[in-house]
Amino acid sequence: MSNFPTVRMRRTRQNEQLRSLVRETHLSVEQLIYPLFIAEGLTEPREVLSMPGIMQWPLEHLGREAERIAHLGIPAVLLFGIPDEKDEVGSQAYAAQGIIQRAIHRLKTETPDLLVITDVCLCEYTSHGHCGIISNGEVQNDGSLKLLAQMALSHVEAGANIVAPSDMMDGRVGAIRNTLDEHGFSQLPIMAYSAKYASGFYGPFREAAGSAPQFGDRRSYQMDPANVREALREIDLDIAEGADIVMVKPAMAYMDVIRRVRDHCNLPLAAYNVSGEFAMIKAAAQNGWIDERRVTMEVLTGIRRAGADMIITYFAPDVARWLK
Ligand code: PBG
Repeated sequence: MSNFPTVRMRRTRQNEQLRSLVRETHLSVEQLIYPLFIAEGLTEPREVLSMPGIMQWPLEHLGREAERIAHLGIPAVLLFGIPDEKDEVGSQAYAAQGIIQRAIHRLKTETPDLLVITDVCLCEYTSHGHCGIISNGEVQNDGSLKLLAQMALSHVEAGANIVAPSDMMDGRVGAIRNTLDEHGFSQLPIMAYSAKYASGFYGPFREAAGSAPQFGDRRSYQMDPANVREALREIDLDIAEGADIVMVKPAMAYMDVIRRVRDHCNLPLAAYNVSGEFAMIKAAAQNGWIDERRVTMEVLTGIRRAGADMIITYFAPDVARWLK
């Protein structure tokens, strides 16, 4: 069976030039999307405790940060808003002068070439912290669709380049597509969080975005971590409803899902390297237990190798610098 010593795998591993010739997967800055949190009522940037280096930005400081990102060659940001006021129906999510709408407008004026993707979900805006509206103690699917579509439309009217629904209500991609088309935005792409799992890895994000559910959890709308066939059904439905880019989230514990989706459809595929994945690497690195740069590059390369075309990651600015 073995052709040794004729075949020697080590021949092409002898130096970096050889290794780079035979390298199968490439990670580059054009594939990265950087999440940004914009908080109403802050005067100074506030660091998220569980996410070292990640800030909640006041609107007034956003321009400088956006310029830094654009300058690093990162093509896109993914925006999350943190409003001052929350209510049962998440009114600030679709208010024309809401924090996120003002942030979009500002970014598109000051750094027009930086793509602005917006997260479409009610959880940062509702007093109960769920991703849809509640009645009889349950998250209502159909009643939430109108609000989500309204939210997406308000983002697009403020200048967003791509909307990314992350709520996991059934039919939301279609509802958003219809509303955008009716208002003359038929060219506006939708990046669907198609296979979004009910994950413990979102913990630090909920601190960053102030969006932890006040009762229950998200298991009645986000996916069971045990399932992969179901992810393919979610992908198919979102494609049928008009998604332009599909997503798997989280990434590290779902590499097989990324691979299955990549082999299953021909849409561009995004993977979200989420807050808990970032926090784990940061914490271990701060303890001196792992080499942050090496492990980060290994994880992101792994996500690309699994089949993701683009990666949403809090490491984007670091990686951009390392790749230079
Ligand atoms: C909103 C949303 C969440 C994340 C992105 N959009 C949190 C959640 O669903 O609870 C998580 C991102 C991260 O952990 O980095 N629904």
